[in-house]
Amino acid sequence: MDCRYIRFCAQRSAIDLYQLQELFNLAAFWARERKIEDLEIAINNSNPVVTVWDANRIIGFARATSDGIYRATVWDVVIHPDYRGLGLGRKLVETVLSHPLLNRVEKVYLMTTHQQSFYERIGFQENRTTTMVLHNFPSASPLPIPELGEADTVTV
Ligand SMILES: CC(C)(COP(=O)(O)OP(=O)(O)OC[C@H]1O[C@@H](n2cnc3c(N)ncnc32)[C@H](O)[C@@H]1OP(=O)(O)O)[C@@H](O)C(=O)NCCC(=O)NCCS
Repeated sequence: MDCRYIRFCAQRSAIDLYQLQELFNLAAFWARERKIEDLEIAINNSNPVVTVWDANRIIGFARATSDGIYRATVWDVVIHPDYRGLGLGRKLVETVLSHPLLNRVEKVYLMTTHQQSFYERIGFQENRTTTMVLHNFPSASPLPIPELGEADTVTV
């Protein structure tokens, strides 16, 4: 493998969303069939977003969301199958973790179905006790739910 042109990039605007969609369709089972406009929303609302490139081709991706001090979550970690086993996945996750928005955070979470051993090598530990999930379908709530903008207060 010729690694001379491999580089890491934290610039969100550099991301070619069509290439990213292709990488997800090929190598990220949880992120297949994501729409371009939805990928754009996810990227705009994540920081950092780190891509790995071989020349002009995206071969890796990871992103995080963080409050900068208490909690952060790492999402959508993927390396193209042709480039696995070279240390790029580890470097990708470590690059995300060393970003100023994550490196002081008390707890960094992530969800993984199959890659526990990979993350354990980086320092993550299994955490079976605290995680819950809401599948966000419209609910039959008896109260109308207000949509709050930053400047709004609503009396119940
Ligand atoms: C998981 C993934 C990102 C790892 O990327 P990678 O570039 O192959 O990983 P690296 O070469 O940096 O490996 C780092 C270390 O983890 C180990 N490792 C990598 N994949 C592993 C696996 N599936 N199981 C156990 N160990 C693994 C490597 O042997 C290496 O160990 P070392 O540091 O002791 O030498 C990659 O396999 C991938 O994209 N998988 C599909 C998508 C996915 O499942 N992502 C995770 C979603 S939560």
